[in-house]
Amino acid sequence: MNIHRYSNVAIALHWLMALAIVAGFAMGLYMVDLAFSPNKLKLYSWHKWIGVSVFALAAIRLLWRLTHAAPPLPQGAPVWQQWAAHGTHMALYVLFFALPLSGWLFSSAAGFQTVYLGLIPLPDLIEKNRELADTLKAVHRYLGYALAALVTVHVAAALKHQFIDRDGLMRRILPGGRS
Ligand code: HEM
Repeated sequence: MNIHRYSNVAIALHWLMALAIVAGFAMGLYMVDLAFSPNKLKLYSWHKWIGVSVFALAAIRLLWRLTHAAPPLPQGAPVWQQWAAHGTHMALYVLFFALPLSGWLFSSAAGFQTVYLGLIPLPDLIEKNRELADTLKAVHRYLGYALAALVTVHVAAALKHQFIDRDGLMRRILPGGRS
């Protein structure tokens, strides 16, 4: 079957971000419950670097998406499915920015500057403020759970196309295929 595929750049950005988000999420859940130790501090730094990378990749991806149209959906998909896919993708983009930003804001309010890869000091977005830090910590946590829920829906939809509808939709975003 002849299928329209995403560009190689879009495919690379998709899988790089998927990997970074899953790693950042798992690390976030794991690190918060650790007792205070040098290892905990190291994981916090790695978590922040992964999150800032997600933010940067999201910016590149959005620019790419705005300048390169996505391949058309296969004909015959019900309208509700097209809207559901569109809505999920829009919400994912919002969270790609909002979640890292909330983590960055939280770190700033808590008084811990983020130094990307241990090399590049990023500006604190707001001044130190204990009360605001507590609120931002909760915001970051719930945005993280919201992203996890959306990613689950996104993956479930992809698996339905692959194994129930068997319409080859997943090949559009898999590396190494041909149009
Ligand atoms: C895709 C990006 C990100 C994901 C998926 C993510 C996810 C998470 C999750 C799931 C937690 C644990 C929340 C909990 O259960 O209490 C967490 C905690 C945390 N995140 Fe992120 N995060 C991201 C980006 C960032 C960024 C960019 C920063 C800072 C620059 C950051 C800073 C933190 C900090 C400091 C905590 C610990 C909060 C605490 O001490 O309770 N995160 N993150």
